[in-house]
Amino acid sequence: MTSNRETLFDSLQVHKGRIAKTSMSQMFEGDKNRFDRFSNSACGILLDYSKNLIDELSLEALFNLARDVNIEGARNDMWAGKKINFTEQRAVLHVALRYDGDDEVIVDGKDIMPQIRSVLQQMQQFSDGILNGEITGASGQKFTDIVNIGIGGSDLGSEMVIKALKPYHQRDLRRGCRGREQSDQRRQDIRAHFVSNVDGAQISDVLETLDPQTTLFIIASKSFTTIETMTNAKTASKWLINALGEQAVSDHFIAISTNISACADFGIKKENIFAFWDFVGGRYSIWSAIGLSVAILIGFENFKKFLSGAAQMDEHFLNAPLEENLPVIMALLGVWYRNVWNFPTKAIIPYDQHLNRFPAFLQQMDMESNGKSVNKAGEQLDYETGAIIWGEVGTNAQHAFFQLLHQGTDIVPVDFLIAAKGHEDMPEHHNLLLANCLAQSRALMVGKDLAQVESELAGQGLIAPHKVFEGNRPSNTLIYKRLDPQTLGSLIALYEHKVFVEGVIWDINSFDQWGVELGKQLAKTLLKDIEENKSNSKNDSSTAGLLRFLQELK
Ligand code: F6P
Repeated sequence: MTSNRETLFDSLQVHKGRIAKTSMSQMFEGDKNRFDRFSNSACGILLDYSKNLIDELSLEALFNLARDVNIEGARNDMWAGKKINFTEQRAVLHVALRYDGDDEVIVDGKDIMPQIRSVLQQMQQFSDGILNGEITGASGQKFTDIVNIGIGGSDLGSEMVIKALKPYHQRDLRRGCRGREQSDQRRQDIRAHFVSNVDGAQISDVLETLDPQTTLFIIASKSFTTIETMTNAKTASKWLINALGEQAVSDHFIAISTNISACADFGIKKENIFAFWDFVGGRYSIWSAIGLSVAILIGFENFKKFLSGAAQMDEHFLNAPLEENLPVIMALLGVWYRNVWNFPTKAIIPYDQHLNRFPAFLQQMDMESNGKSVNKAGEQLDYETGAIIWGEVGTNAQHAFFQLLHQGTDIVPVDFLIAAKGHEDMPEHHNLLLANCLAQSRALMVGKDLAQVESELAGQGLIAPHKVFEGNRPSNTLIYKRLDPQTLGSLIALYEHKVFVEGVIWDINSFDQWGVELGKQLAKTLLKDIEENKSNSKNDSSTAGLLRFLQELK
C-alpha cells in the first residue's frame, strides 16, 4: 500500500471507531434531515444511502480519499483513450460506444467514432431486417428464434437486458393469416435463447425446441477462440447442416467479434460479421454489437434509448462534483465496508422479477474487474479489494437467505433496487413489492432489541435471544420511476463507474482478467487425459485419483 493510502485508510479507522458507538437508528433520531443529507439523484435514479454506517465527517474523509487518489485524473485518462488496461496494452473505451456527441475519441492517433457509428448502422439495418421480415432463413421463412451463443461478457449482459426489458420486446407484426386471427395480446415476440455452458445439456435443451428453418444463431465472442462458445457453435452448425444442408449456414449464422478472420473461417458471410474492438472489455461489451440480440428483441429505437441512458450517466460521472456523484458515492461506500469494516460480500437485491439476471451480470462486472491482489506496480496488496457480489430478486430472496442478512454473524451491505411503477397494471402486487422492499431495508437498520422481544414474549424469556435482531445493518436503496431502456442503461453505467472508482482507489487494473487463464490451460491438458483414458505425469495425486475414478465409471 502506498504510504499515503495507508494514512488515509488509517484515518478512516478513527471514523469507524466513532461511528461504531452510535447506531444508525440513533443517527436518524438525532438528525431529521439525514435522508436529505445522504441521498442524491441522477438520470432519474434516486440513491438513498442514508441507511449506511456513515456521518458527515466519515464521508468527508472518504471524499478526501477519492481526491487523494485523483479519481478525476483517472477518469479523464480513461476518456482520453490512454492504455489504462496496461497489462494488455489496451484503452478502455466502452463509454465511446454510447457517446452521441460530435467530439472525436482518439485511440492510437485515430478517431474511433466513425467505426462505432458504422457498426451501429449495421446493427440497425440487421435488427430492422429481422423484425420486418426482410432478412430470412435459407428457405425464405422469417426468423422466429434467435440463439445467442457466447459466455461471460458475451452472454450475461444480453441475457440480463433482454429479460429486464421484456415489456419492450417487439411484437411480431409480420404474421400472415394466422397472426390476423390472433388478438394483439396473443401475438408472439421473437424468442431469444442463450447458450453459454459447455455442458451439452444446455444446447440440446434449447435445440430441441427449435425449428432450423426459422432459427438464427448469433455467435458472440470477443476472441472467437473461447472453447465453450466454439464447441457450442460447432454443435449448432452441425444441427443446422443436418436439417438444411451446408449452404444454409451463411443465412443462419452471424458473428460478433474482434477476430474477424476467425469468423470468416467459420463460414460467416462478411456482411454478417459485426465488429467490436480491443478497447471494449468483454464484461463492458453490452453497448457494442454484443448487444445485437437486445437490439433485435427491443427494436433499434429502444436500443438507442438504452445507450443514451448510459451516456447520461457518463455525463453525470464526468461532471457532477464528487459529493453528488452517484458512482463515486457508491464506490466510496464499497471501499469503506471492504477496507475499514472488513465486510467481505455485498448483496444485490432487485425488487423486480425482470432483473433476475442483474446480480449475475454485476457479479462478472465487479468480481472479474476488481478481484485482484497486486497493485499496478505488481506489488502484493496488503489490503482487501473486490467484494464478493451475489444476490437474488426480492421477494424470493427474503424467503431464502435474508435470515442470514438479519441475524447471521457476517454483515452484508445490500443494494435494494425498485421501480416506483411496474409495467403490469397490478397495483396490488406492486404495492406489496414496494412495501417489502422498504420493510427490509428498515428492518435491517432498526432491528429489534432484547427488551422489545421480551416485552412481546411476556414471560417466555428462554427463546428471546433467538428473536433478537441486532439491526444497524447497512443498505443503499435505488429507486427509479420505471425500468425502461433508458433507466436500465443508466443503472448499468452507474455500476460500471462504481467498479472503476473502487479500482482506482485500490490501485489495481480493473480491466484485465488473467485469473481465468490458468484453469483454461489446465483444462486443455486434462481434456487430453480424459479423451485418452490416462493421467499425465504432472497431475497431483488428487487429480490423478479423480481421473482414475472417472475412467472406471465411464
Ligand atoms: O474467460 C473470461 C472471459 O475472457 C471473459 O472476460 C469474457 O467475457 C468471456 O471469457 C468470453 O470471452 P469471449 O467473448 O472472447 O468469448
